[in-house]
Amino acid sequence: MSSAGERIETRAPGRVNLIGDHTDYTGGLALPLAIDRQIVVRGVDRDEPMITLTSDQDSTPATIPLPAAGVATTEPPWARRVAAIAAELGRERGFEGSVESTVPIGAGLSSSGALGVALALALGDGARQSRLDVALLCQRAQQAATGVPAGVLDEMASLYGMDGHALLLDCHDLTVEPVRLPEDAQVVVKYVSHRTVVGSPYSDRVAACHTAEEVIGPLRLARTQDLSSLTDPVLLARARHVVTENERVRECVEALKGEDLVTVGRLMTASHISLRDDYEVSTPDLDAAVEALISTPGVYGARLTGAGFGGCVIGMAAPGAVKDAWVMRAVDGAEVVKGRSNYYRDP
Ligand code: GLA
Repeated sequence: MSSAGERIETRAPGRVNLIGDHTDYTGGLALPLAIDRQIVVRGVDRDEPMITLTSDQDSTPATIPLPAAGVATTEPPWARRVAAIAAELGRERGFEGSVESTVPIGAGLSSSGALGVALALALGDGARQSRLDVALLCQRAQQAATGVPAGVLDEMASLYGMDGHALLLDCHDLTVEPVRLPEDAQVVVKYVSHRTVVGSPYSDRVAACHTAEEVIGPLRLARTQDLSSLTDPVLLARARHVVTENERVRECVEALKGEDLVTVGRLMTASHISLRDDYEVSTPDLDAAVEALISTPGVYGARLTGAGFGGCVIGMAAPGAVKDAWVMRAVDGAEVVKGRSNYYRDP
């Protein structure tokens, strides 16, 4: 346990998902990478039972009396994440500090997920936990802060990131397999429009999956031939996306291992079409951005990334092929930089 006055610094990266969207909350597969855009939390413990944090993204600070309560109605909205993490940790001791972000806000690159992880490490008070414990704690906090039943993709990506690698996440077994990214290609990301998952039809999609599972059993185990028992055309389409997306993730991992970028690109574009037509989480602007990318020479494939309803599109491209996009580098996962040594107790 650190004494009052000791400086704490933590960092947590955002993430972008190469393929495997809307699969995590039914225990399926996803293939994100932690990106070289991050949240940094700096501060000191205080004996007074109050968390005070400033943010370089919002002029209104978070001021949370402890023990934290009333998470969902805390103001300003970003402070809900602070209150939720403090509540999950059962934190009673105060903290005073700052939050800095280079993750674009509202772009679907998990700025909020990264904030939760950086806070959990900063406020964790030396309670040594595994990465998985932290990921699940942050997922519970995100659900409490937003009321949205999101999966564990964002938190696991931020915590398990590995330099130069994507991460094959099995969201049922909660396992992670690093998959090396090809050196002769770039992950490019184009910002399309602002979005928040709060207020989007995300929860409706989660509910549709659970209804489909009542008919055909766990979607993570289903095959396309099982889908014929779904008579409702909307449920059928939603379930078909999930089942085929899990399959595309498996194929994409094999293609990456075989350095077959053409197949990787083909699978990414097929994923976009499935998210657009079967899952209906795309927008005309996202579709246009994907079209523009895939018609650019040197681009292997492209898709919307994350929840959809706005946000960003991602492409796999030959180096230098796309001029007006962010090139994302895969980086190591979240860590305590200063103040609480040996934080993780991974098995
Ligand atoms: C959001 C959620 C994740 C995941 C993606 C879609 O980012 O936070 O849990 O469901 O959408 O893949």
